[in-house]
Amino acid sequence: MRNLIFIIGLLFFFSSCSSDKPAQREEGTPEEQSSSEQDVPSSIAEGKGIGEVKEVELTSPLDQERIARGKAVYEMKCQACHRLDAQRVVGPGWQGITSRRKPEWIMNMITNVEMMLEKDPEAQKLLEECLTRMPNQNVSVGDARDILEFMRQNDGEK
Ligand code: HEC
Repeated sequence: MRNLIFIIGLLFFFSSCSSDKPAQREEGTPEEQSSSEQDVPSSIAEGKGIGEVKEVELTSPLDQERIARGKAVYEMKCQACHRLDAQRVVGPGWQGITSRRKPEWIMNMITNVEMMLEKDPEAQKLLEECLTRMPNQNVSVGDARDILEFMRQNDGEK
């Protein structure tokens, strides 16, 4: 009788152990995955930069209202450092930017500049050339989309 109780005790012991272990592993795995994804985000590898903007759908013909709003933001917040031709002032001139960069990259650069300069190799190259950090201008994603439309017009899209 004592043996039987002992054996039943052993069974409980082993079954509780074996059911605990996989549960712990399941908890651990997603955290490990997400932290390694943060180290090398796939969006950077795809040339989309890093930030809130994951996917931008471009439409044609261009949206004239967006262009007008984008131009107004440009004149207020960007013109001091960016010209519309190819010449660099403080930052690079914008001519040809929409063929050099993906739309997502441009919008992430505008809305998430600190992290772009920290993590994106293309943004870091610009910083090496310009030797000035572009300041965060507190531009919303919607305003960045308007600026992108203005850039497309500046590059001759219709
Ligand atoms: C104080 C100067 C300054 C202002 C103001 C500024 N930028 Fe910049 N910008 C820079 C610099 C410098 C760079 C190059 C990256 C670096 O060194 O930080 C840059 C880079 C960029 C790039 C990437 C250019 C390329 O050739 O790929 C974009 C896009 C951009 N800025 C958009 C904007 C927008 C939009 C505004 C206005 C809302 C703005 N910037 C305001 C200085 C500025």
